[in-house]
Amino acid sequence: MNNNFENHIKNYLDGQRVDLILQASEYALEGGKRFRPEIIFAILKGMDIPEEKGYDAAMALEFIQTYSLIHDDLPAMDDDDLRRGKPSLHKAFREDIAILTGDQLLTDSFRIVSESEDYDDETKVNIIKTLSTYAGRDGMIYGQLLDVTSGNKDLDMDKLLLIQENKTAGLFKIACLIPMYIAKLNQEEYFTRLGSMIGHIFQNQDDLFDVIKSEEEMGKNLSDIRNEKLTALQFCDVDGLKKLIQKEFDELSVYLDEASFDTEYLEELLKRLKER
Ligand code: IPE
Ligand code: IPE
Ligand code: MG
Ligand code: MG
Ligand code: MG
Repeated sequence: MNNNFENHIKNYLDGQRVDLILQASEYALEGGKRFRPEIIFAILKGMDIPEEKGYDAAMALEFIQTYSLIHDDLPAMDDDDLRRGKPSLHKAFREDIAILTGDQLLTDSFRIVSESEDYDDETKVNIIKTLSTYAGRDGMIYGQLLDVTSGNKDLDMDKLLLIQENKTAGLFKIACLIPMYIAKLNQEEYFTRLGSMIGHIFQNQDDLFDVIKSEEEMGKNLSDIRNEKLTALQFCDVDGLKKLIQKEFDELSVYLDEASFDTEYLEELLKRLKER
């Protein structure tokens, strides 16, 4: 756990008016792996920029990640009662409070970046634009739309890839683009593809864990089979999926050879991802 970043989130929340939404936000934020923020910090370090420079943007992204999980767990979505090792927000609080807390975390993310003292105006606009693009209908929301409107009878590989590209890779693209904007580089294509590659690996692992790990170990319900969702396991067995993930890691490693930053920190993080 990155205590400095956790304190950064805590300090932000401590400055907010105390009400039920703040309490629910604190509850929901607790226990996440913070993998997307760690990507931001690893790339920044590889650019010789201190990770603290990424804290506000990473907090904004983690707020969006947390909101996406709160809404993903709602009865109308995946209907899951366990998240981050605890009862899902709508179980611990109420469904109406969970909806509002998700909405607030999303809205707060834009406020955090716009009020940040760590970015100039151009960087703020770039970060807010990338958050709203890839968390929205050109990213996570579109992926969730495809997720809820398809099922395990749709044996369509292109559809699965489109779901992963949007539902999951959306937020990873944001994580890779934020350091690029902070560093004022003009390499959108490279960093977007990097986020996309990590996102596909991440969702393939998540789908694999649905069948090889326990709910206790994952700290969440493994409901996509119950809900007859379209996942990678409709196309191959567990061994096949493990091989696919290995192949994707190898391709990512080759892709990192072309990076304009020192990839040492990101590779260290990816190693942890691979071994999880
Ligand atoms: C869960 O993401 C949603 C998926 C894309 C599979 P994480 O596994 O990163 O969840 P937290 O943030 O650590 O709770
Ligand atoms: C959800 O995918 C990704 C989001 C955009 C929230 P999943 O439904 O597989 O995520 P988990 O397994 O509940 O974390
Ligand atoms: Mg889901
Ligand atoms: Mg889910
Ligand atoms: Mg899942």
